[in-house]
Order: sequence, then C-alpha cells, then structure tokens
Amino acid sequence: MPTLDLPPLELSRARELDDESLIRIIMQYHDAHVRDLMTALELAQAVSARHADSPDLPARLPEQIADLLEDLRGHQAREESVLFPVILCGRGETLRYPIAALGTDHDTVQVRLEQLVRLTRDYTPPEGACATWRRLYDVCRKFDRELREHVQLEERVLFPRFA
Ligand SMILES: [Fe+2]
Ligand SMILES: [Fe+2]
Repeated sequence: MPTLDLPPLELSRARELDDESLIRIIMQYHDAHVRDLMTALELAQAVSARHADSPDLPARLPEQIADLLEDLRGHQAREESVLFPVILCGRGETLRYPIAALGTDHDTVQVRLEQLVRLTRDYTPPEGACATWRRLYDVCRKFDRELREHVQLEERVLFPRFA
C-alpha cells in the first residue's frame, strides 16, 4: 500500500512557498496519485472477480478507476511537460490559456471523482466486506483527500500567480 500519505499543507503556508518548492510538492502529489490509483485498480479487479455476484459491488468499478487514472495521467503530463517547465525557467510568458485548459481538466477529473464517491457510497464498504474490499476503499479515500488538496494548491495558490 502506498505510504506517502502527505500531510495536508495549509493554503496560507503554501502561499509563502516559492514556485519551485510548491511545484516540488505538487509533483509528490502527482506520484502518489498514480501509485494509489494503480493499487486501487488491482484491488478493484480482485474484489470484482471475487464478489461478482454481490449486490453491493459497484458496477464497472475497475473500469471507472482505470478511466480516472488515464485522465489524471494525461492531465499531470500536460502540467509536467508544459506548464511547470515554463514557470521554472521564469520567462514570464502569459500562461492564461494553458492554465484555463488545465482548469477544464480539473473539472473533468472531479466529475469522475464524484462518480467514484457515489459508486462506493462515500467509500463505505458493505457490512462484512473482506479485507481487500476495505483496503480498496481506504486507498480510494486517501486518494480522494490528496487529490482535492492538490487541486486546491494549484487553483488557489500556483495558478493565480500566472493567470
Ligand atoms: Fe497537478
Ligand atoms: Fe492539475
């Protein structure tokens, strides 16, 4: 199980960080998200195979997690290959348009996250759920918390510096 479990960074403290330090922390979130979703995908596949006839099994859970992972990877790659290098080389370019596009990515990812919340009944395992099912929802809950923190850091601290 991923163990990074990033401590929540308060926005007021994040605002005191320079761009480079803030981006370093954001990249830790990126890595943690991918690891967590890959773990969640494996667990969801195991749970779906083992409990295929359970009425509590969310429909298409592995597919939902795989779609979320794919969207998030694409989004993070756009930040890591375009936005962050431009910020870090300090050319002072106008970043309003790439930042608007990345904000749209956030909306897409958040819609998928809310679907996951609904499907899993807010990450609540059914009564008597096996250890794998419980672990799956624990990983998803950690991912959910860290994704929301990460998006806040970008939308409320990093992006406004360049938009
Ligand atoms: Fe990001
Ligand atoms: Fe982002």
